[in-house]
Amino acid sequence: MSQHVEVNAGLEGIVAAKTRLSMVDGQQGRLVIAGYPLENIAPHASFEELVYLLWRGVLPTSAQLTEFAAAMGAQRAISKTTIDVLREAAAKKLHAMDALRMGASTLSLYNPCDDAGGNPPVDALSAVARFPTIVAAYYRLCKGQEPVAPRSDLGHTANYLYMIFGTEPRPEQVRACETYLNTVSDHGLNASTFTCRVITSTRSDVISAVVGAIGALKGPLHGGAPGPALDMVFEIGTLENAEPWLRKKLSADERLMGFGHRVYKVRDPRADVLSAAAAKLFEGGDENGLYKLALGVEQVCLRLLEEYKPGRKLQTNVEYYTALVLHGLGMPTDLFTPTFAVGRVAGWTAHYFEQLKESKIIRPQSIFDGPQDKTWVPAESR
Ligand code: ACO
Repeated sequence: MSQHVEVNAGLEGIVAAKTRLSMVDGQQGRLVIAGYPLENIAPHASFEELVYLLWRGVLPTSAQLTEFAAAMGAQRAISKTTIDVLREAAAKKLHAMDALRMGASTLSLYNPCDDAGGNPPVDALSAVARFPTIVAAYYRLCKGQEPVAPRSDLGHTANYLYMIFGTEPRPEQVRACETYLNTVSDHGLNASTFTCRVITSTRSDVISAVVGAIGALKGPLHGGAPGPALDMVFEIGTLENAEPWLRKKLSADERLMGFGHRVYKVRDPRADVLSAAAAKLFEGGDENGLYKLALGVEQVCLRLLEEYKPGRKLQTNVEYYTALVLHGLGMPTDLFTPTFAVGRVAGWTAHYFEQLKESKIIRPQSIFDGPQDKTWVPAESR
């Protein structure tokens, strides 16, 4: 019997949750994080304030912030077991997101709980606080260096940069990185957040939910785009080379990384916030030429995307400027997607708490279109 049901490929247009965490307006190009327009909060708040806001719905007072930041800071250290796992991953030269996934799994050892749902507030704090330590440790192990222990006298973001580079970052570097982490902290029902909510809806624990989300973020159509976006600018090299280079890619039906979005049909508002952060970071520096080249390449990309894919409304997305900000901070491309996870774990954990209040498991349907009348034949007769 044929079923006359439409499949919504990619669940496009399907509303699967209510959230107070972020509002993504794809037609107007607006992003609101827990009540605050992105451009109003991301360049000003500390990451600790953003996490507090997402989890509790209000910004903390100074006293609450001091207490919360201290509690988060106290959770940064990772155990020898986690470092051993990362060391093994580095020896095998695993992708940094695979190392983060494996390192994040070991967080179940930190606050053991025999309940299937774990201990959500404790596990969430542990994940948000320890993701940077795992990412930085893996980066250093891959370079044949020992991990740098976290410092409790530094803020979350300053400490992340300190653990990566081994030197205290300048205030403008901390601000640029913090603006980045805040900008990507939450974004509606993106693929990794949806993954996190599906796992949560089964009443599983925070660590399982964020580990699943890491897997979804890794893919090049989601969080894996900024590295290739920067590689593209490097490969293009000069503005004169942009058009022939891009035409070749588009003629071969290849996608330009850092462009297009399921929801945004105008410019991604996160690109504006990050382009302002990148401009400050590159101003007068040695790599200002690269920044200017990226701006020029972006314009050629937009013009050619409209020519090759008319009406698809393909605009610059967050990943293009992510690449510039993180490169401006001195990070290699390997650190781009894990650093995205360092920011997005704030949203994942907030969605965990939100989803936990829902009683229904997330369980869509499929239409069966395979054969139905086959007859079993033993292996030796096939
Ligand atoms: N370059 C060239 N063509 C593109 C691009 C692109 N970046 N993005 C979409 N298209 C084309 C597709 O080929 C398709 O063309 P067609 O109609 O001729 O078949 C059309 O535009 C629609 O594409 P879909 O894949 O249906 O669009 P969807 O909304 O499902 O995909 C996505 C959104 C995955 C982000 C897509 O635009 C893409 O692959 N972009 C490049 C990767 C990227 O930058 N990812 C980061 C996204 S932001 C984030 O996740 C944080």
